[in-house]
Amino acid sequence: MFALPHLDLPPLRAAAGSVRLPGSKSISNRVLLLAGLADGVTEVHGLLDSDDTRVMLQALQALGCSLERDGARLRVHGLGGRLRVHEAELFLGNAGTAMRPLTAALALLAATQGGAFTLRGVPRMHERPIGDLVDALRPLGCTIDELGEPGYPPLRVRGQAGGSLRLDAPLRVRGDVSSQFLTALLLALPLVSDAGDVVVEVEGELISKPYVEITLALLARFGIAVQREGWRRFTLPQGSRYRTPGVLEVEGDASSASYFVALGAIAAIDTPLRIEGVGSDSIQGDIGFVDAARAMGAQVQAHANALEVRRGRWPLQAIALDCNAIPDAAMTLAVMALYAQGTTRLTGIASWRVKETDRIAAMAAELAKLGARVDSGDDFIAVTPPARWHAATLGTYDDHRMAMCLSLAAFNALAGAAPPVPIRIEDPACVAKTFPDYFETLLALVRADPAEVPVITIDGPSASGKGTLAAALAQRLGWHFLDSGAVYRATALAALRAGVSLSDEAALARLAAGLALHFDGARILLAGEDVSDELRREDTGALASRVAALPAVRQALHALQLSFRRAPGLVADGRDMGTAIFPQAPLKVFLTASAAERAKRRHKQLISKGIEANIADLLADIEARDERDRSRAASPLRAAEDALQLDNSQLGIDASVDAVQQWWRQRNPLDQG
Ligand code: DC
Repeated sequence: MFALPHLDLPPLRAAAGSVRLPGSKSISNRVLLLAGLADGVTEVHGLLDSDDTRVMLQALQALGCSLERDGARLRVHGLGGRLRVHEAELFLGNAGTAMRPLTAALALLAATQGGAFTLRGVPRMHERPIGDLVDALRPLGCTIDELGEPGYPPLRVRGQAGGSLRLDAPLRVRGDVSSQFLTALLLALPLVSDAGDVVVEVEGELISKPYVEITLALLARFGIAVQREGWRRFTLPQGSRYRTPGVLEVEGDASSASYFVALGAIAAIDTPLRIEGVGSDSIQGDIGFVDAARAMGAQVQAHANALEVRRGRWPLQAIALDCNAIPDAAMTLAVMALYAQGTTRLTGIASWRVKETDRIAAMAAELAKLGARVDSGDDFIAVTPPARWHAATLGTYDDHRMAMCLSLAAFNALAGAAPPVPIRIEDPACVAKTFPDYFETLLALVRADPAEVPVITIDGPSASGKGTLAAALAQRLGWHFLDSGAVYRATALAALRAGVSLSDEAALARLAAGLALHFDGARILLAGEDVSDELRREDTGALASRVAALPAVRQALHALQLSFRRAPGLVADGRDMGTAIFPQAPLKVFLTASAAERAKRRHKQLISKGIEANIADLLADIEARDERDRSRAASPLRAAEDALQLDNSQLGIDASVDAVQQWWRQRNPLDQG
């Protein structure tokens, strides 16, 4: 959701609650390929919905698989190992888990059944090696053209119907650059196992073995029993056939779990953080991250399909670890190292260099910006926590894991940063690769000191365009939005419905204190009922203005309004946001526009909604309301002394938002220097 150029996180201080993980990326894309190749229909539950699975689904559709969606379930009608489409151009984004196995499967299918398929991706995909896989396939008789640099996508695989493959000798594949090459072969070779056993031998030390374990476990679910001799030799028995398991449940993503395990270890101080979707039953190697986190101090209780994490040792303990078995989750350890005593040294991570970005270089550069001391080499990184933390703008390199990891640096207050510093995450939307809602999920679990959460107040008279401006600004910044007028309007509506007299101040205050009001995006719910339209009516506004004049009502609504001040920030609009509710706000804006201009705007607004209106009446109304809001004793409408005035009579909405955003940049520490 955060389609922003950047997201600023204020200092965060605690975390609690429960999170349900999105489906595992590794499992999702393997299952999709197997279901696509199998005979019959596979119903997949809990599939990850992300960039990487989307490109795989599009590829399957382009190849003639039909897909049916039913809520969170997906039914895949498999090809049964027979090509239905013999020519296709596939775009695979930056998904290695789609590019490698599809290359293998289509190369084998084209070589035997005939066809020509092009596989390409984003520019970074074209920098990620695939030569070892090509080298393994060519000796069989597969024709593979490298359309760009030798050894890299884009590729074209092609062949003639009736072609045969040389499968009597073992295939050889290197295992020391990426385990995905071996995975690709194991997933695809059952397609051509009719004539005899197919043997794959691994050359060099096989890295990331746990990912190969996922491959073997899923092949077994599809009826294929690979025989394995150590990690060197794998045999697909003659006549291996993909058989759909019918229904398949995708586990939560264990690599995604690592951010929340780390969050718990750092910030679940009072109550544990519950993580649902993976646990001790997981087939994903990255669940091994839990042991590494424990070694650093996390207290983790593992259930079959859930984890409960809380802070144990604090500060965390530095570790030295060979991370070959948990390459993706190991990135999270590099960030936990910021909170550890001593230097954390992670080795066996050469594969980081060929992932979404060169992750060793990226991590070293970004952690250094925070003040950490970082040493790195071909296959290791060593991190010593900052002696002094720096507010920093952190690059994410179009790498989802960089963005998710670096967000954890916002807890620097807990490491004693004095003062605690905010951080900026660039291009937060890159998490869409595996965890589209990551930042929303994180922010729902964390607590900040309200005084450290930035607030921009937008006050002004009726119909000055505050609401529109404030909502648009909140959206641009990715902040929360408080429409305080709606709070008074809802109080008035609740009073009307409950038959409370507008002259009974005490009863109105009691009602206000117990108001069951919920903001759900653009909808406003009162006791569960959507009252958005009713609240906006003119007569509700007029009643609100009367209710709002009562000091006891204003007092009763004070705490509710304060509770909106949550990370990452708040834009609050009303009459007294800058004067009474958030007097310490770092930026206060007072909107002015002539009464005539405001009457014109309100008129246009009403007409567009099909409501009849007359400008002269509206002007009289607005002037009367201004007078009442200004002259009341309790929090009268006026500009805070340090408010910046914005006359938007002549400004469109974008220009008004630009103006306020510019003022915010001048005050935001992350925009200085
Ligand atoms: O902004 P609005 O028109 O939705 O506000 C409705 C009424 O509530 C308005 O007449 C004044 C009152 N109000 C207030 O007194 N203090 C606020 N912070 C917001 C609104």
